[in-house]
Amino acid sequence: MSRFPYDAVVFDLDGTLCDAEKGIVSSVRVAMDRLGCPIPSGVDLRVVVGPPLRDTFRDLLGVPEDRVEQAMALYREDFDTRGRFLYSVYPHIRQLLRMLRAGGVHVALATSKPKKLATDILDWFGLTPLFTIVMGELDGPEKLGKPELIRRALPDGCGHPVMVGDRKFDVLGAKAAGVASIGVAYGCGSVEELRQAGADVIVHTTRELCQVLCPGATAPRGFFLTVEGPDGSGKTTQVDRLERNLRQFGFEVRRTREPGGCAISEAIRGIILDTKNMEMCDTCEALLYAAARAQHVHQVIRPAVENGELVLCDRFVDSSVAYQGGGRELGVETIQRINAPAVEGMLPDATLYLAIDHREALGRRLAASAPDRLEMQDTGFHSRVQQAYERLIGENPERFLVVNAAQDRDAVEKDALEAVVCRLAALEQR
Ligand code: TYD
Repeated sequence: MSRFPYDAVVFDLDGTLCDAEKGIVSSVRVAMDRLGCPIPSGVDLRVVVGPPLRDTFRDLLGVPEDRVEQAMALYREDFDTRGRFLYSVYPHIRQLLRMLRAGGVHVALATSKPKKLATDILDWFGLTPLFTIVMGELDGPEKLGKPELIRRALPDGCGHPVMVGDRKFDVLGAKAAGVASIGVAYGCGSVEELRQAGADVIVHTTRELCQVLCPGATAPRGFFLTVEGPDGSGKTTQVDRLERNLRQFGFEVRRTREPGGCAISEAIRGIILDTKNMEMCDTCEALLYAAARAQHVHQVIRPAVENGELVLCDRFVDSSVAYQGGGRELGVETIQRINAPAVEGMLPDATLYLAIDHREALGRRLAASAPDRLEMQDTGFHSRVQQAYERLIGENPERFLVVNAAQDRDAVEKDALEAVVCRLAALEQR
């Protein structure tokens, strides 16, 4: 028994769970272009999202019947290699799927896309494990149709099933299958279209959808992800890219950094990194990092994680262990001890480590910008930092995701994203 109003929810994919417009529209354009068929004037290409594409090419875009298969093949080729990577998961959808799963609801997908393609897209986003069943169309010209896809997506004996979709095809399909329907007006269909088709409920945002499907539920706990690496590992660039990519994947990202992340801790950062403060003793430095961290955990990190967000933090306590414990030789245990009250059990769920030898990193750093007080340390310091990091990784193999940061930026970005999404998807299933 589910504690929510519907015990089985069948979702449409494009325009309902994912913003598919950019990907589909641009691949339709490429197909029409390669086919040598101009797009009829006055056609708003957004309407291609949702209905079966064969019909769209023939009926809406005027492709002659005998060239429709060729149009489909050209579309598929571009979509598989490029278009589908322009998809993004709408905000709150990941949380919604987790809440439904935790509430014992049967969560299904019923899409007009071929099943293999739908599964590839869900896999790429790390969403497949959150579904009980994925139903997609047959590969050839023979089609099951929405009503049959919906019927097959439902388990025997469910009491209150519902279909969620953004187009009239979803609503009409639900009716034909004898299932209630929720129309989402944030996708590609208008409120008018959904109303005319006879949607039982219409929602305008994904937040509203959460309220209808999981009334009274609070967002599940979020995640705490940190990024570490030696100075010169390209960390800032990679955190920028990771933030952008994780948003595309539908995570509610709260980007922050250490030292800093809130007003008090940013003020402490200014003191620590100021090149005028050369007389600062090592213990003072270590305690200032811990003080900045205490405020940051209290004011930003813990509340955001409890609120369901994904906190993406550029450096955390591992940096203190590596730089003050290793680099400054204050000792790993001492640093862990002074940080215990600051961290207060708020340890990262995963830590991305950008691995690069400190000598190679030094070259990159010197080429980039004027060094700050910490970056001005000798190579012995940076070698000890690296050793301390390596020890931490050895002691926490299940937490660290190690990526080779000596590769070019795009390769590091790809490896980092894959590793992080794989880990977060595993955590989402808990
Ligand atoms: P950061 O601004 O992240 O520098 P970069 O972008 O070059 O990585 O960090 C500033 C410096 O602070 C960096 O040299 C590492 C150091 N640091 C510590 O020594 N201990 C700590 O606890 C933290 C968080 C940073």
